[in-house]
Amino acid sequence: MMYTQQVMDHFMNPRNVGEIENASGVGEVGNAKCGDIMKIYIKVDENDVITDVKFKTFGCGAAIATSSRATEMVMGKSVDEALKITNEMVTESLGGLPPVKLHCSVLAEEALHAAIADYREKHPKA
Ligand code: FES
Repeated sequence: MMYTQQVMDHFMNPRNVGEIENASGVGEVGNAKCGDIMKIYIKVDENDVITDVKFKTFGCGAAIATSSRATEMVMGKSVDEALKITNEMVTESLGGLPPVKLHCSVLAEEALHAAIADYREKHPKA
């Protein structure tokens, strides 16, 4: 199986690993295909901007790499902008994934969406 250099880099040195205490939103999802788990924490300021994001995963290398890249891509974005970032965009920015590993990139997107839904539930707009 061939991984691009960008994928290997994010797998070996994942960015934004960990958790956020008192996060504005937390999302946890499981991958139906392999059973791997992803948890994402977001900190959102009063302008709806994501000021911090961290993730933890029991997932494979491709899941780690795409989550690491996804956290970079949503950092500093508004919640609405972050929702527009798809797993395809994340995968593409890493130079692609082997087709059998594409399902791994869905974990980050789903966990992020869950975290944003959690945030919105806890912070309903007036
Ligand atoms: Fe499960 Fe990649 S094999 S996330």
